[in-house]
Amino acid sequence: MNTITVKDKQFQLFLSGNQINAAIHRLADTINSDYRGKRPVFLVVLNGSFMFAAELLKNIEEECEVSFVKLASYQGTRSSQTVKQLIGLNESIEGQDVIVLEDIIDTGITMENLLEQLRALHPKSIRIATMLFKPDAFIKNFKIDYIGLEIPNDFIVGFGLDYDGFGRNLPDIYKLKNS
Ligand code: IMP
Ligand code: MG
Repeated sequence: MNTITVKDKQFQLFLSGNQINAAIHRLADTINSDYRGKRPVFLVVLNGSFMFAAELLKNIEEECEVSFVKLASYQGTRSSQTVKQLIGLNESIEGQDVIVLEDIIDTGITMENLLEQLRALHPKSIRIATMLFKPDAFIKNFKIDYIGLEIPNDFIVGFGLDYDGFGRNLPDIYKLKNS
């Protein structure tokens, strides 16, 4: 099954679940050695990061906390600009070592916005772990501390990532077929 249809578009196999899991295990090893003796708080950015977070966190050895957050889009009252507000963070992260878990960093706009909102809550440190990174699409300049895999600037689905709400359950990652 190298080609599949998700909703109304065709996708072809790009990364197997085994390749993705291997990359995630490498990240977990690095985080384990960097955070030895610390008690990090992982912030899982929903929805797309649920599979990445599950695989990563099963391999984290240090005692840690896990919280789930979401960026909710809403229309500003006076402009048509979409603003993204952090929701779901019920506990304080002040003075904590925070590691943000994101599925993919594309332009970096989403993560930059999230970082600004998190910095305002005065954590001791913030690092970013992303399963996937598209360097050719990135237009920001913040540091990405942990990258699972760098990928070309193609649209992908699977392993948590969706196309119009579909495809998140796929255990492998597929890229959009150029027709
Ligand atoms: P950014 O703000 O451009 O970095 O985009 C980040 C968000 O866009 C991610 O958290 C994803 O939800 C979504 N996204 C970016 N690229 C893809 C893709 O190839 N497939 C599915 N979702 C994507
Ligand atoms: Mg996301």
